[in-house]
Amino acid sequence: IKHLRSAADLDLATATLILDTAGEMAALAGREVKKLPTLRGRTVVNLFYEDSTRTRISFEAAAKRLSADVINFSAKGSSVSKGESLKDTALTLQAMGADAVVIRHSASGAPHRLASWVDGSVINAGDGTHEHPTQALLDAFTMRSRLGRLAGLRVAIVGDVLHSRVARSNVLLLTTLGAHVTLVGPPTLVPRDIAAALSPATKVSYDLDSVLPDMDVVMMLRVQTERMQDSYFPSAREYSRRYGLDLARMRKLPEHAIVMHPGPMNRGMEITPEVADSSRSTIVEQVANGVSARMAVLYLLLGGKA
Ligand code: CP
Repeated sequence: IKHLRSAADLDLATATLILDTAGEMAALAGREVKKLPTLRGRTVVNLFYEDSTRTRISFEAAAKRLSADVINFSAKGSSVSKGESLKDTALTLQAMGADAVVIRHSASGAPHRLASWVDGSVINAGDGTHEHPTQALLDAFTMRSRLGRLAGLRVAIVGDVLHSRVARSNVLLLTTLGAHVTLVGPPTLVPRDIAAALSPATKVSYDLDSVLPDMDVVMMLRVQTERMQDSYFPSAREYSRRYGLDLARMRKLPEHAIVMHPGPMNRGMEITPEVADSSRSTIVEQVANGVSARMAVLYLLLGGKA
């Protein structure tokens, strides 16, 4: 494949190849191999129109570890503030010889538009409420590393599904990889038609306590208060009482089950600090795995091997 705009761009063979390659990248890092010459002479542009900590830094680290030249573009402080369009910004980057453009944008579909304007590969680093495919890849990589498989895994994705690009990409990718997904949250934030549109096999539950004992993975989502204008949201206290993961709820999970969160977290709202910092939590591991997963994506897309 040339672009990674959606988790739906990945069939089982390609997704598995990326996860296996991420495993090789992680193994090399574990053997203190800090840098590979693979992308020497290639240019990766990080084009960020929305704030990011993890995704932006890990794409930069991934590209540098593969010896690519990296240009970091942030809309803040650029000519975007003078009204320059995404297309004109893209053509400027194209003129600078970008081999890959990693884009985060508040508009769903921005990576698809960008791919029609530039010659290089386009990688979606999060577009509006639509998708975040490399987050899904690093999440799948983390599950496979911790639990040894993906096929047949039972995964609950809990919380603000309505606004979550992480949830959408995870449902698509995990379904492709043979896992069983249940979306859990208040009815206003987990509409049944979203689950059905993503994958007919996806289940929906409004009762977190009844779901937990059957899960191998529980993935808590950030409550996106900044996108909440259009949706009914109970008070933070009511939300935490019904859908927050605290120690008492975590104990309902099977012994082997893991707790995930893509970050950034609202500690005390969707997850308590005790759970986030517990040995079952993979939150820090997910960040480390993000570098390996993004190295694999850049390596395979720019190397033409995926
Ligand atoms: N998980 C995630 O996308 O985090 P950032 O917004 O910090 O990149």
